[in-house]
Amino acid sequence: VPNAQELAGNCNGPDEQIRERYIRPEASSEEVINNDHGNMSIPIIDLNKLLSPQSSEEECVKLRSACQYWGFFQLINHGVPDEVIANLRNNLVEFFSQPLDAKKECSQLPNSLEGYGQGFVGSNDQKLDWADMLYLQVQPSDSRDLRFWPTYPASFRHSIEAYSSETENIALCLLQFMAKAVGVEPKSLLSIFEGQARGMRMNYYPPCWQADKVLGLSPHTDPGGLTLLLQVNDVQGLQIKRDGKWFFVNAMNGALLVNIGDTLEILSNGKFRSVEHRAVIHPSRERISAALFHHPCQNLVISPLPDFVKDGKVHYRTISYRDLLTEYFTAELDGRNRLEKMKL
Ligand code: SIN
Ligand code: FE2
Repeated sequence: VPNAQELAGNCNGPDEQIRERYIRPEASSEEVINNDHGNMSIPIIDLNKLLSPQSSEEECVKLRSACQYWGFFQLINHGVPDEVIANLRNNLVEFFSQPLDAKKECSQLPNSLEGYGQGFVGSNDQKLDWADMLYLQVQPSDSRDLRFWPTYPASFRHSIEAYSSETENIALCLLQFMAKAVGVEPKSLLSIFEGQARGMRMNYYPPCWQADKVLGLSPHTDPGGLTLLLQVNDVQGLQIKRDGKWFFVNAMNGALLVNIGDTLEILSNGKFRSVEHRAVIHPSRERISAALFHHPCQNLVISPLPDFVKDGKVHYRTISYRDLLTEYFTAELDGRNRLEKMKL
């Protein structure tokens, strides 16, 4: 698969054959709502308010509706020091701006998801995403494979480590409030994700000569638990699907975007929604984002938790997380379709 940065750097655009693999007629045919000032902006949740006894209950109500209707929210007052975020941002911009050769030291290897390279390709005839990425397993710390961890910029490894430890408790904390918000024992989701693997996917979306005809990341849902997404530079590009329309998400500076993955939708028997999203490309500016995924144990057999099945009806089939991931990585991303097939 060609490197997107390299393709973008060729001022004539890629040749015909390669071009074909990126052009997506559907990318520009669906309606997009730019909700800059509209009342459809995704909810903002204040972690400080959740944690303060006098405001917690009120904020929990907002959290519940965010998880039930949006599947996405912007988290403010999350406690990650500005400096930790700034360092990661600077290092990511610097890392991706290097020439291709310099990044080859941490290239993906066959049969490994980790390292620098391109998005996952399930088949030779599928459309390709206009993006490069660096994927690293960051937790538990003894699962790190330093072969894939960049040595340049010099502070990069430290920045990733600092960001990963500063965010360690955020998702666990949110899971407790999410359970509480829907009247379920707060520890019920926590125990499934505590101490489990976390991976970071850092995305580089170069500008494109035909930005409206390609996609940076195909429509998909995230497979795991919660995802914390950091918008790294000031170029927006995330869109989420609601009622059949795409909504632009304007990430607030300093906020973390949080979204719910398939595992949480199934565990919650559909109470929390795993929402389809995609990334679009800017015509003249590069965009960088970093997604931190919280996985359950690979052996976990995912099925709706009894606490969430109060009406006695189970709405999802059972699947192990290992099988869910295998399906996810061996076929083309296809919006919510895979998850819809899990429904009973
Ligand atoms: C993602 O869905 O993991 C990334 C989306 C983005 O780059 O905003
Ligand atoms: Fe995603």
